[in-house]
Amino acid sequence: MDGARAVPSPAHIVLRESTRAAHEAAEDSPAMRRLLAGELGETGYLGLLGAHWDLFRDWEEQRGRWLMGHVADAGWRYLSRASRLAMDIHGACSVNEPLKRRKVLDSGLPAAAGSPAAAGSHKAALLHEAWGELYVIEGSALGGRVIVKRLRERFPTLSHHFYAIGENADEPWPRFQSVLDRELTDRAALQSAVAGALRMFARFHQTLQDDAPHV
Ligand code: HEM
Repeated sequence: MDGARAVPSPAHIVLRESTRAAHEAAEDSPAMRRLLAGELGETGYLGLLGAHWDLFRDWEEQRGRWLMGHVADAGWRYLSRASRLAMDIHGACSVNEPLKRRKVLDSGLPAAAGSPAAAGSHKAALLHEAWGELYVIEGSALGGRVIVKRLRERFPTLSHHFYAIGENADEPWPRFQSVLDRELTDRAALQSAVAGALRMFARFHQTLQDDAPHV
């Protein structure tokens, strides 16, 4: 079956090439351009963090079991973005407040694994899509290392745990790429992962538009 043939390139290369245009669009989005140009005010920055928080709160709730189960078993430790966004939005002193109110990863999600092997093909496709989503999230931390330097200059009194995650992570990007290469080994898996990655870029993109507050 065509879908079961080995992929021609490692998964991390195919993901990068298949999402190049989406990455360029994210870099070129109104919020990112204003942020790097130093034109985003504090209210706008906090509004952007709030939009990110909505995205990650939902995503971590939706994918929590998989992250704590299959992803951890595959050798990758996901660090909660929602928790870091909560710290940046509410300040380190009140960090537990939003965590009590809303369920995010660090507040304890079920650890049961959901592995493709144990699932039907439809569920396996969904799990492969989730790897594509995670690719976008982990990759965005690389750009975050550039962005956080600008944020520290522009907003020296605010905390920037979310954008600094790539600086502080003890998990190196090449190791994540090798996890992707192990997990996505046939064309069907890779197609699903690319679809998931493009959808996640689109979700990010919505948070980076002009209608986001930017004063
Ligand atoms: C102005 C904003 C951004 C800049 C300057 C930027 C910059 C970068 C840079 C320099 C890298 C490569 C780092 C390396 O290989 O060491 C990278 C990779 C990546 N970025 Fe961005 N980025 C930005 C925004 C974003 C956003 C918003 C997302 C997600 C929605 C994103 C997703 C990714 C992904 C997935 C990769 C990995 C690409 C690969 O497979 O090699 N980036 N970014």
